[in-house]
Amino acid sequence: MAQTHFGYRQVDEAEKARHVRGVFDSVAGKYDVMNDLMSAGLHRVWKAYTLAVARAKEGDRVLDIAGGTGDLARAFARQVGERGTVVHTDINEAMLRTGRNRLLDEGLSLPTLLCDAEKLPFASQSFDLVTVAFGLRNMTHKEQALAEMCRVLKPGGRLLVLEFSRVAEPLRKPYDWYSMNILPRLGQFVAGDGESYRYLAESIRMHPDQATLKAMMKTAGFGHVDVHNLTAGVVALHVGIRC
Ligand SMILES: C[S@@+](CC[C@H](N)C(=O)[O-])C[C@H]1O[C@@H](n2cnc3c(N)ncnc32)[C@H](O)[C@@H]1O
Repeated sequence: MAQTHFGYRQVDEAEKARHVRGVFDSVAGKYDVMNDLMSAGLHRVWKAYTLAVARAKEGDRVLDIAGGTGDLARAFARQVGERGTVVHTDINEAMLRTGRNRLLDEGLSLPTLLCDAEKLPFASQSFDLVTVAFGLRNMTHKEQALAEMCRVLKPGGRLLVLEFSRVAEPLRKPYDWYSMNILPRLGQFVAGDGESYRYLAESIRMHPDQATLKAMMKTAGFGHVDVHNLTAGVVALHVGIRC
C-alpha cells in the first residue's frame, strides 16, 4: 500500500482521508472562532484579497471547493447576484453543515454538496471560477484534485488556490515556533483539541512551497499561473488560468 503524510506521520494513502475527516469532525464547531484567534483576524484579509483578485461578475458560475464554514461562498454569492450560481462543497459533513446553517441564518440558500475534490461530480467546462481556500494541503492526491479543478473550468476560467505556504526569512524561525508551540495550546484551550491543531501546523510544513505548487498547477493543465505572496509568504494565492 502506498504511503503518504498526515502532518509529520507516514500513513497508508487509503487512511489519510479518514484522519483528515477526524480533524475536521472535531474542530467544526469551533472552526470560525479558532480561525480568528490563530491568525489574529488575518484570514479575513487573505480572503478579502482573494475575492478582489477573483473579480467574480454578475451571472458567473463559481465552485467553492473545501468550502467549510462558507466564508468565500457567502461573499461570492453577493458578487454573482441572482443570475449567477455559487456551489458550496466540502468532503466533510460537519464542516459543510456548520457552513450551511450559518449561510441560512444570514438568509442565503446556496446549492451545497458533499463531495471529494479528487472526484468532482460536475460536467467538464461548467464553471467560470473555482476556489479552494486552506483545503488543498489536506487532500491526499493533490495532482488529481488540481486536474479535476482544471477539468470543470470553462476555457479562460480561473482557479484560485489560497493556502499556507513558505514564509520568507527572517520570519521563518519565529513563525515555526509560534505554529508548533502556540497553535496546539490554543487549540487545546479553545477547542479542547490540541492534536488537530498540531496536525494543522505540521501539514503547513509538509505542503508544497510556492514554486512547487505553481509547477503542479501547470502539470495539471493550467496554461498560466501567477503567485501572490501574502504576509511574507505565510499564505500564497495561486491563480491558474485554464487556456
Ligand atoms: C481548513 S478548512 C478550510 C475551510 C474554508 N475553505 C476556509 O477557508 O475557511 C479545510 C477544509 O478542507 C476540506 N477537505 C479536506 N479534504 C478534502 C477533499 N478531498 N475534498 C474536499 N474538501 C476537503 C475539509 O473537510 C475542511 O472543511
